[in-house]
Amino acid sequence: MDKLVSLCKRRGFVFQSSEIYGGLGSVWDYGPLGVELKKNIKDRWWRAMVHARDDIEGLDAAILMHPRVWEASGHVAGFTDPLVDCKTCKARFRADKLEDARCPQKPSKKPGEHSTCELTEPRMFNLMFKTFMGPVEESAAVVYLRPETAQGIYVNYQNVLNSSRQRVPFGIAQIGKAFRNEITPGNFIFRTREFEQMEMQFFVKPGSDEEWFERWREWRMAWHHSIGLAPAKLRWHVHGPGELAHYAKAAYDIEYEFPFGWNEIEGIHNRSDFDLGRHQEYSGKKLEYFDQASNERFLPFIVETSAGADRVTLTTLVDAYREEEVEGETRVVLSFHPTIAPIKAAVLPLVKKDGMPELADRLFHDLKKHFPCFYDDSGAIGRRYRRMDEAGTPFCCTIDGQTTSDGTVTVRERDAMTQIRVHQDQLAAWIRERVG
Ligand code: GAP
Repeated sequence: MDKLVSLCKRRGFVFQSSEIYGGLGSVWDYGPLGVELKKNIKDRWWRAMVHARDDIEGLDAAILMHPRVWEASGHVAGFTDPLVDCKTCKARFRADKLEDARCPQKPSKKPGEHSTCELTEPRMFNLMFKTFMGPVEESAAVVYLRPETAQGIYVNYQNVLNSSRQRVPFGIAQIGKAFRNEITPGNFIFRTREFEQMEMQFFVKPGSDEEWFERWREWRMAWHHSIGLAPAKLRWHVHGPGELAHYAKAAYDIEYEFPFGWNEIEGIHNRSDFDLGRHQEYSGKKLEYFDQASNERFLPFIVETSAGADRVTLTTLVDAYREEEVEGETRVVLSFHPTIAPIKAAVLPLVKKDGMPELADRLFHDLKKHFPCFYDDSGAIGRRYRRMDEAGTPFCCTIDGQTTSDGTVTVRERDAMTQIRVHQDQLAAWIRERVG
């Protein structure tokens, strides 16, 4: 992880937030390569969940919502973790995760094990960030930064139903920021206080929920394979009765084997009619669905798929990272699936003379109309290839002596390092076919 974090900073994937002020705890910024990578992942998700289907609509709900939403959802009362403070070092820990934590005074020990540790009794700590709406700071003006995007979907379910031609079963998908004041965030962008979720809520007739749940489990695992994650590093974790969230009838996590262990990257939840039932109760508005085919009225059950965009981004970085020995040197390469690679192709004039820079410049501007490209004319060609390997660029296109005579360029493929010649007129189509 240390090597990956340092590569991410060096190559402009991820920077610490407000770094020149010493950083802000577990908040991160995406640099030029990181923003492209994360955007490609979100685009792939949107394409699979919204554009490729005719039973799911998109939504972009606001982060700030009516405070009653969070009472209805159960977050005001129950979105808490048990917290203990150390009176000596002032550090805070999750009482249920002390086994995994380290004492800041003596990192070889767990909190409470060092002779000077003085831990308080656990108290429940709500993870929602609070702020005030309008100019007054009083309890009546409290609003929350949403801790999940899902609630924006539930409160808009009837709006979407009435404004689209959908009928149950159908889904609503959304990508957006969520905020949680995590007690023990960490592992780089794995657990942060500000993050993005890619959530989809599928509304179904009660009784068909278990069947839909199984379908969504299958489709979501297939999506992770489709962005190139190694199947052997992915597995299911089923939630036992003690683990289930307050809203869930059943829940499975898709886990990935990170360097710090197996951890959740997406949750698939059968939320029953809990959410619509609670919003119906708290808002006083009828949220039932009338099924014309069967002449029945019911409150739909919800099957939710909830993935973290930042967590999936981290997963693709970890999964793609390789170190290889090549001609006595270590080559670091990010073997991203070409569809999510931030830069699709680099254009490299072999030397800065003999008309090569002019040809390369023309080709670069032509390719740039089709996909993100990078131009590099500085240093030995081997060094330039290595820089592109570290950025995860699948194709390097070198303009050389032969280009000036027959119009072909050398295309070097990132993973196998094989080289073939492609005519410059066919290059954009050749690359497009391979990067999706
Ligand atoms: N709406 C259901 C829900 O929010 P969750 O299991 O709490 O369920 C879903 O979160 C996903 O959101 C997780 O699988 C993870 O990918 C992402 N996520 C949750 N908390 C996160 C955090 N603090 N930092 C980064 N991603 C997080």
